[in-house]
Amino acid sequence: DLGRQEFGPAPDSLADLATGIAGCRHCAIGCNGTRAVPGEGTRRRAFMIVGEQPGDIEEMEGRPFVGPAGEVLRSQLAAAGIDPGQGWLTNAVKHFKHQPTGKRRLHQTPTAGEIDTCRWWLDRERELVAPRLILALGASAARGLIGRTASVQRERGLLARQGDTDIWLTCHPSYLLRLDGAAREAEQTRFVADLRGFAAALA
Ligand code: URA
Repeated sequence: DLGRQEFGPAPDSLADLATGIAGCRHCAIGCNGTRAVPGEGTRRRAFMIVGEQPGDIEEMEGRPFVGPAGEVLRSQLAAAGIDPGQGWLTNAVKHFKHQPTGKRRLHQTPTAGEIDTCRWWLDRERELVAPRLILALGASAARGLIGRTASVQRERGLLARQGDTDIWLTCHPSYLLRLDGAAREAEQTRFVADLRGFAAALA
């Protein structure tokens, strides 16, 4: 389709892909002056974990999942026996959408249209990384992977099969950070249970 042609030739390496996302101006987020954050990790029949978009710290450091949500993710992956270094960490949207209020930049959720635009890059990344299993963290990640809005509450677990790749869905770790007390405990327990299910599928 036309939208796809506008992106030009597909990158043939992950380095090219990183250059491509850095220069991408196909949506308003790409035009906001922030730096794109490429995925990182191990490729080839391993696993991929997909978040929504880089946060404040990720944008500054240029690496995925190195801020507060990343800390939650990494500690819960450890609890489930998954070493993130053995897979590929990335995001559905490559730039940081935010409100530039005061000195802290406040996260803004990307629109379905922005996620769909950035899907061109995620698709190329999936071709280059060739994961066997993919874990979507939250609804934005799911949309980037399957092209429709999914409900974490109703569809968590095995979400879709695309060719020989299974897509799993759980909540985004920043959802846990927005809860307290018993609600947080309960959701954290479900999150680790989902990660354990994903680990079992990987084994
Ligand atoms: N949240 C995400 O979805 N991705 C990151 O890289 C960091 C926080």
